[in-house]
Amino acid sequence: MSARSSTTATAAPTTPGAGPDVAGTSAAPLRAAAPLDVARIRADFPILGLEVGGKPLVYLDNAASSQMPRPVIDRLVRYQSEEHSNIHRAVHHLSETATTGYEAARRTLSRFINAREEREVIFTSGTTEGINLVAHGWGRKFVGAGDEIILTVLEHHSNIVPWQMLAAEKGATIRVVPINDAGELLVGEYEALFNARTRIVAVGHVSNALGSVNPVERMIAFAHARGVPVLIDGAQAAPHLAVDVQALDCDFYAFSGHKMCGPTGIGVLYGRAHLLEAMHPFKGGGDMIHTVTFEKTTYNTIPHKFEAGTPPIAAAIGLGAAVDYLSGLGMASIAAHEHALLRHATDRLRDLPGVRIVGTAHDKAAVLSFAIDGIHPHDVGTLLNQEGVAVRTGHHCAQPLMKRLGVSATSRASFAFYNTLAEVDALVAGIRSVQKVFA
Ligand SMILES: Cc1ncc(COP(=O)(O)O)c(C=O)c1O
Repeated sequence: MSARSSTTATAAPTTPGAGPDVAGTSAAPLRAAAPLDVARIRADFPILGLEVGGKPLVYLDNAASSQMPRPVIDRLVRYQSEEHSNIHRAVHHLSETATTGYEAARRTLSRFINAREEREVIFTSGTTEGINLVAHGWGRKFVGAGDEIILTVLEHHSNIVPWQMLAAEKGATIRVVPINDAGELLVGEYEALFNARTRIVAVGHVSNALGSVNPVERMIAFAHARGVPVLIDGAQAAPHLAVDVQALDCDFYAFSGHKMCGPTGIGVLYGRAHLLEAMHPFKGGGDMIHTVTFEKTTYNTIPHKFEAGTPPIAAAIGLGAAVDYLSGLGMASIAAHEHALLRHATDRLRDLPGVRIVGTAHDKAAVLSFAIDGIHPHDVGTLLNQEGVAVRTGHHCAQPLMKRLGVSATSRASFAFYNTLAEVDALVAGIRSVQKVFA
């Protein structure tokens, strides 16, 4: 079945509660979601019409980076053709236009995650930079020798290494929340890790390797009852669920533009205003200062305190356009469609002899990791590519998780709202032909 013929398939929203569920109380009820017109949506994505080695592209590597629709591409072209200049620093027409566009993008992002105030939205280069910003700006000020930082075994390296670097510098300790064999966090164990030295919790909203949706609301409430702030790595949630930082009540929330139809090199760190105000700046330079003398520098107000130097103006405006596009489709509709894809893929892979799904949490979003008996994931990815099917193989920047699961790598199909049930079938057909090569 080809990707092209699949463009007419529209997955209807499914009833929640059966099979893997797209969860999170911050997501709108799936029942209310209008079905997506996937054929129309796919026409917005020029890249989805590509062929790879003579086969229609079946792009199932969205957790690594998603594709960009025409309205976002057009917005970037318009910015570069008609609006570009440096921002915040001049009174001429182009500088004012670019500044207006950049700050409008901040407003769009602020509404997208329901921040209380626009100044709580800091543009970063991506999730990685957002987490590093908090580890440096908050951690270096408020974490000391003997303090403890709680992470989970599911984390992406981006949400491990910055904390390890901080812990090494300060003499602090990392405590790790374990999972069960399905890939679900053990919340009782999480709660047992708390003590008087616990300073911060950093946890992913959705696991990039397994798709598990973590019970972050409950974890945040427990931490807050003990006065401990929580950072959420939302890289794999913001593209798939309706994120409401006020409903979550998180202190920091980091995500990346390129995983949600925006450009690379741009992301957002949400932080509560009073925490951001109390933090050290992360990078020094232009725009983040109020006054500079050789004796002393005073810093700008938030968010500018954390946006040193010329920011990625075009990319921020492009991310604003991407978020407008997603909002136009509706995050509840996106979640419902991806839920249908995930369930179909789960059902089909379960039926395949010699294939094991890795990660069977009750609440999952848009990610399906699997292993094929006797075939290395690298070979799986290479042979699927010959069928035009793009999946990711490897440790998914989650080596501690792979160790816990007793595997060195998995193959991972990850879905977006523009994927179709027929593309899932193409994946299954591809897996069958991989098995035949090794039979
Ligand atoms: C859960 C998670 N956190 C962090 C990151 C890092 O994102 P970026 O490379 O865009 O900074 C990723 C990227 O795959 C991710 O999946």
